[in-house]
Amino acid sequence: MVKPAGPFKTPPSRRLPPPAAPASGGAGSLGPGASAGPEAAVPTTLDGQGSPAAPTRTADDPGLRASARSGIPAFEVMRITDEIARRRAAGRDVVSLCAGEPGARPAPGTLKPAGYTGPLGTGPLREAIAGHYRSWYGVEVDPGTVAVTTGSSGAFQLVFLAAFDPGDRVALASPGYPAYRNILAALGVQVVEIPTGPETRYQPTPALLDAAVRAHGPLAGIVIASPANPTGTMLGRPELEALVEWCHINRARLISDEIYHGITFPEPGEPDPRGVSVRELDTEAIVINSFSKYWGMTGWRLGWALLPTSLVAPFEALASNFALSPPAPAQELALSAFTDESYAQRDAVVKGFARARALILEAEPQLDWGIAAPSDGAFYYYSELGPQLERFPDSVAYARALLEGADVAVVPGVDFDPVAGGRAVRLSYAAGEAAVAEALERIIRFQR
Ligand SMILES: Cc1ncc(COP(=O)(O)O)c(C=O)c1O
Repeated sequence: MVKPAGPFKTPPSRRLPPPAAPASGGAGSLGPGASAGPEAAVPTTLDGQGSPAAPTRTADDPGLRASARSGIPAFEVMRITDEIARRRAAGRDVVSLCAGEPGARPAPGTLKPAGYTGPLGTGPLREAIAGHYRSWYGVEVDPGTVAVTTGSSGAFQLVFLAAFDPGDRVALASPGYPAYRNILAALGVQVVEIPTGPETRYQPTPALLDAAVRAHGPLAGIVIASPANPTGTMLGRPELEALVEWCHINRARLISDEIYHGITFPEPGEPDPRGVSVRELDTEAIVINSFSKYWGMTGWRLGWALLPTSLVAPFEALASNFALSPPAPAQELALSAFTDESYAQRDAVVKGFARARALILEAEPQLDWGIAAPSDGAFYYYSELGPQLERFPDSVAYARALLEGADVAVVPGVDFDPVAGGRAVRLSYAAGEAAVAEALERIIRFQR
């Protein structure tokens, strides 16, 4: 592979001007299953405050069906938990003989006592998440369609269960985050890997999806990520619109992992500096996100999904049985994630990632590796090893030798791409400027 000359320059075409304002329509109100439950109490469609809602699908489109296996009864106790919380918040003296919860005091050690919450999370947090979409993307999201989960990992499990049945085919880009493939496989879903490369910024395209359908048969869904792991590449608005349209025409569910939104490195004046949320384009698409990356709250195990209204009740049935509720203390803490002060603090952290990223891009000529993915966002740099593969049989051997010889740990690409990953490595520059500078020096010395 020929290495591009000089440090990688992010092509300016990455983010194009936003389309004309979407036509009309609210973000949708709760589906019948959800409105029967405690979620009816949560404000449903928020009235417009000048912000456009994502376009809804046409009335003659019956929408996509939930999986057959999600047709289980919800765990009623957990839904009542939500209703109790809402009534108590409204000042009612509710006597609950409902949940199997031991008295919270004394809590072990100095820990604050915490009980179950509703299965889709607390009302205030679901509203705060909806507010985040208003402030970052200018879209109205019905808080009743927000499901708080145990990290985005928990959201993937429940969304895949709710959306797909065993034997369904779901496509994803390769290289890609391995858990998509592995969770889907564990749930009996047939994974269709779409090999991607620099020509499409390592992202799927309608043409690649058409080719996948020709080779494997119709797809029940696709999973995309922007910025992606391990490549860091992003989908611009037109590219995302094309995928939305493809899914609409092909009746496939679109699941968009937006966990790295906000960790982006736009050129000054570029549109969509945080990333484009698929919720801006289609209320039938599923958004998955998390407090883990932009907010750095990995250990609190908190994420969320934005669901199409038709999937709220099936998702709730699954969530209330599988997890009962997301962690209560984490939900309380997460309420403070959406303040101006918190955004400013996290943006300062992202500036540190930007400096670490710049160090890698500057060092590219000395690294003497192969083609690298354009690291638009996240904190990953994914590169072919190029000339290094004349000395090492594959990236696993290279990574092992580097750790042994220079005490620098990098990830061989095989986790992300079982076919071509043996030629590539991923560096995470989340470790910060100092660690990256030190690692680069050692790598260059090691390769001499
Ligand atoms: C692309 C992507 N999605 C999801 C996750 C899962 O994160 P969490 O479960 O902490 O939200 C990760 C973690 O590294 C990731 O890289």
